[in-house]
Amino acid sequence: MKNNLFLDAAFSKSTERPPVWMMRQAGRFMPEYWEIKNKYSFLEMCKTPEIAADVTMLPVDLLGIDAAILFSDILVTGEAMGGDLSFTQGVGPKFSNPVQSMADVDKLDIDVLPKLQYVADAIKVVQQRLNGSIPLIGFAGAPFTVMSYLVEGGSSKDFKKTKLLIHNHPDIAHKLLGKIAAVTTDYLNMQIEAGVNALQIFDSWALSLAWNDYNEFSHRYIQQIISNLNRKDIPIISFCKGSSVFAPMMAEAKPDVISIDWNADLLNIKKILPSGIAVQGNLDPHVLYADKAVIKKTIIQLFERMRDEKGFIFNLGHGIMPDIPFDNVKYAVEVVKEFRY
Ligand code: CP3
Repeated sequence: MKNNLFLDAAFSKSTERPPVWMMRQAGRFMPEYWEIKNKYSFLEMCKTPEIAADVTMLPVDLLGIDAAILFSDILVTGEAMGGDLSFTQGVGPKFSNPVQSMADVDKLDIDVLPKLQYVADAIKVVQQRLNGSIPLIGFAGAPFTVMSYLVEGGSSKDFKKTKLLIHNHPDIAHKLLGKIAAVTTDYLNMQIEAGVNALQIFDSWALSLAWNDYNEFSHRYIQQIISNLNRKDIPIISFCKGSSVFAPMMAEAKPDVISIDWNADLLNIKKILPSGIAVQGNLDPHVLYADKAVIKKTIIQLFERMRDEKGFIFNLGHGIMPDIPFDNVKYAVEVVKEFRY
């Protein structure tokens, strides 16, 4: 690998500056994304390896980040299991056949790798294009977050159906989570086999859970997945919104990196984690709407705070919003790349 900053930081080795990549770095804030999006549906883009590779490469070529992330979505596992998935502009993801009963759970398929072969193919095309320049991150949704989409039938503000399921019918919820966890383990191992250099598990909606429910319905499945990965020298990043609360429990699953939301002071979180676990984060993405001087000041403040720490990857606390000015994102990357400890 020509640029080792990301992998070194992920394995808690010292680096000359923090490495930088951003969640949703390939997306709607980029005019070049729209040139492709206007020709294909989102799922066509994910399922056509050459197009997925083109989109994956946009932030590599236009922003100069230190790691690429495969262009795909966390919901492709739910689709492969039998969810009827569509993405509509302005509405977001939708499963038209939500899971409501044990019979619905029983119908879901777990032998799904052949249906996800397009992801392995896309990884191979991206690795040819990257040609050893920077690492490629693969990913999957965590079982709780994927379950929430399968049960709600789409995005939700309050996760009412998901919470009713875990509280009134924990047997159904555990059966569903067990199936998603089995699929996710196979899927991530397939990505390792296809050549990714790192993996991130996205548990975006863990934030909605109480501590005990997070333990029972999310953490234990992530732990099961991580312990069954053929991880070799592949770092595992565990992300959730809510990590400023759940980070100590997330550490028990033994990821190499925990990605922290923007509510927490990153140094304070780092200090309560076992040594050898790196942190990733945690700029509030809304700062990228602000004036450049504010962007620079906020990033440098974070770097000064983390100056004496090994194992720090710069990222956002959550994904880039579609209406953030491209120029500001580019500027933020430049600020990081000019910094030296
Ligand atoms: O980070 C990257 O650049 C890689 C690609 C990526 C996408 N989705 C592309 C995408 C990744 C890593 C994801 C993960 C994902 N998908 C998550 C976890 C991360 C997070 O942000 O919490 C979640 C919860 C999803 C589910 C999902 N997919 C939603 C809620 C939406 C709609 C968002 C909206 O505002 O409409 C998507 C669609 C999606 N995934 C888009 C992109 C670029 C937009 C699709 C479009 O162009 O219309």
